[in-house]
Amino acid sequence: MMPSGQIPVANPLLDSMRHEAVIRAAMGRVLTSGDYILGPEVLAFEQEFATWLGVDHCIGVASGTDAVALALRSCGVQPGDEVITVSLTAVATVAAIQQIGAVPVFADIDPLTRCINPSLLPLLVSDRTKAIVPVHLYGQPAPMPDIMRIAAQYGLWVVEDCAQAHGAAIANQKVGSFGHAAAFSFYPTKNLGALGDGGAVVTSLTDVADTCRALRQYGWQERFISSLPGINSRLDELQAAILRIKLPFLTDDNHKRNLIAAQYRSALHGTDITTPPLIANTAHAMHLFVVECPQRDKFRKFLLEHQIATALHYPQAVHQQPAYRGCIRGGENLPITETLTQRIVTLPLFPSLPESSVTKICAALEAWRYREQ
Ligand SMILES: Cc1ncc(COP(=O)(O)O)c(C=O)c1O
Repeated sequence: MMPSGQIPVANPLLDSMRHEAVIRAAMGRVLTSGDYILGPEVLAFEQEFATWLGVDHCIGVASGTDAVALALRSCGVQPGDEVITVSLTAVATVAAIQQIGAVPVFADIDPLTRCINPSLLPLLVSDRTKAIVPVHLYGQPAPMPDIMRIAAQYGLWVVEDCAQAHGAAIANQKVGSFGHAAAFSFYPTKNLGALGDGGAVVTSLTDVADTCRALRQYGWQERFISSLPGINSRLDELQAAILRIKLPFLTDDNHKRNLIAAQYRSALHGTDITTPPLIANTAHAMHLFVVECPQRDKFRKFLLEHQIATALHYPQAVHQQPAYRGCIRGGENLPITETLTQRIVTLPLFPSLPESSVTKICAALEAWRYREQ
């Protein structure tokens, strides 16, 4: 529970309460429909989200983690196959690769984008490599054209992890539409958040979509007949109905996020703090505003004294965490990832963050410049 008066890093309650009346009405509609799982709301949401992204197919699943796992399986990744990804990500990316028995391999990141560095990929490809999972970290698009070019050269599949990047784009093309498939999360704090768990696989490859649709429900292509060994990972009607309410506001919400980010940028201009890059021709979804700070602990304490919460995304990269330490190829050579994890701090940023809070945060950021050293 956030101490009262403190500005939180995210506030899914406030973001959702903007739609309270319509959400309550939609819940009532689902209640009386008698259809609770994979019904008309899910079908409609899948079509609306696919159209919004510019892809042919969307398959609603139970979480973003399952979406990564199911997308990989649908692309034919098998137990024992290697999948190259990053260590500076939510542990879910790596857990999803391992969930299907595949083997994660870590590539270091580009210090500017903080996403996978495509030039390192050829050094990591082995004869077991089957796929790449670039993560659009914090809402910053990974360099998809370069990644797709290298993937084509080595015959690899690409599954984009878009859990933090709904609406991020390169040259007006939304992320999720570059790879062979992509995974989204609708965890409540995401740019498009449900009121529970939810996720989606998107693709424009019909075979991949058909396989994924079967895999999410026991491998059924026909009811009660499993043609593949699948799992249960279905999106429910309540979450889909809520996502349908929020989707039309997503572009505007991302714009609001970017406006707040611009104010933080100018407040921090000329300080010792590095703000997320503005990269030409890319739209940042600004899921998280993550700065880099040489005196991170002092900076966090300073903000806390001004009643401003901060977070670390992530306090440890995946290869540094007890479950993964020393077990993942590539983990021994991630200097940029390791430097960054010492410096990153996440500031509060969500679409319903009140103007008065933004002003208070900017004042504190400006005051950091004049602190007593
Ligand atoms: C980059 C990334 N990938 C995957 C996931 C997994 O999503 P979920 O929490 O819906 O399983 C998350 C969510 O935290 C994420 O941030």
